[in-house]
Amino acid sequence: MSNIITRTANGVWDWVNARAPGMMPVYRKHMTEYYAPKNFNFWYYMGSLALLVLVNQIVTGIFLTMHFKPSAAEAFSSVEYIMRDVEWGWLIRYMHSTGASLFFIVVYLHMFRGLMYGSYQKPRELVWILGMLIYLVLMAEAFMGYVLPWGQMSFWGAKVIISLFGAIPVIGNGLTEWIMGDYLPGDATINRFFALHVIALPLVLLLLVVLHLGALHEVGSNNPDGVDIKYGPKGNRWDASKPADGIPFHPYYTVKDLVGVGFLLIIAAFVIFFAPSFGGWFLEHDNFIEANRLVTPAHIKPVWYYTPYYAMLRVVPDKLGGVIVMFAAIAVLFLVPWLDRAKVRSVRYRGWMSKVALGVLAICFVWLGKIGAGPGTDPVETIIGRVLTFLYFAFFITMPLWTKLDKTKPVPERVTTHD
Ligand code: HEM
Repeated sequence: MSNIITRTANGVWDWVNARAPGMMPVYRKHMTEYYAPKNFNFWYYMGSLALLVLVNQIVTGIFLTMHFKPSAAEAFSSVEYIMRDVEWGWLIRYMHSTGASLFFIVVYLHMFRGLMYGSYQKPRELVWILGMLIYLVLMAEAFMGYVLPWGQMSFWGAKVIISLFGAIPVIGNGLTEWIMGDYLPGDATINRFFALHVIALPLVLLLLVVLHLGALHEVGSNNPDGVDIKYGPKGNRWDASKPADGIPFHPYYTVKDLVGVGFLLIIAAFVIFFAPSFGGWFLEHDNFIEANRLVTPAHIKPVWYYTPYYAMLRVVPDKLGGVIVMFAAIAVLFLVPWLDRAKVRSVRYRGWMSKVALGVLAICFVWLGKIGAGPGTDPVETIIGRVLTFLYFAFFITMPLWTKLDKTKPVPERVTTHD
């Protein structure tokens, strides 16, 4: 029996290959003959986990779309209907809402890994730029998704964030109205955000992810040592033309990544089944109340993954100034490949300055995130927020200086492993 199945499968395989001979070389280039450094660590799980979460968002999103009604009159109750009456609807929705937060956790860790190991340095600048474009689109995608259930925070969050465009001189007010399609977020807003959230932005995201991986596979992966993998007789005994410090992505890393997948799924299951709103961090309490344009919530704040930028916006006294600072905080990340003048890639072989600077950046970002999630009424916190914003920008502005001055350690010739 198994013989028949194998022969049939091989037959189909040969039939397809005879008609599309270009397919196998693509598979080989990106899987079985993509030589990834053999010293990947925990941080290198995040890329494939981001892919997994992306697939989760698309699949659960398709099922949500089957029952969701994109209108101001029906959106909120259609979500309640999904939660209470649609078979397994609660699970699909919580998988989608939890997936959104996990996406950002994974992507922030992924970006931090890039900063630690200098993965943006030559020749991977394009990988980094494409990653940053993904990050921008992801933020827009999550923002529009959050407006759809039409809860209080959907409405007021949309109002506050879209109104920021009003700070732009001359065209500001017209632009705000154009984005909303109304004077306040309403039916037109929800309709266009639905179109953008379910099809336009996911398409862009998918395209960018393909380009991101395509660009990476042209130059090869970096690794925790930040040294290039060497070709040579050692390591790959059977073929000296293959990288000695690299191993085929499939099956070695596909199998290794399954361990990461296991961990992610355990964490996701815990959140989905025991704490789906995660204390108001993943789904805000006010969003379980239907949007009401006559009642303003006590504290309007975005979801946690935007709060570092939101804090920067709030601590700057001038509205236009705040908007500029907020956008600049994201834009400056694009420039990292050109601000870094270090001769070595990985933080492992950099001096104390780089380590302190990176630590300070991480603390600033998390602390600003905490401040942005608070009510924003404490004057002391506002001062702290200003200092943190200053330090955040200081990291980037002074980067050419400290990366050049920093004393580096000797870099190993070959990648190191700890076995
Ligand atoms: C949907 C979001 C994303 C997906 C699915 C994704 C996917 C991946 C995958 C699968 C890899 C190879 C495995 C790995 O190195 O972990 C990778 C590498 C990389 N990604 Fe992303 N990525 C995403 C977002 C980002 C963002 C936002 C950035 C930074 C701005 C970024 C920067 C990088 C860099 C620099 C590398 C090369 C790392 C190295 O070789 O050391 N990615 N990405």
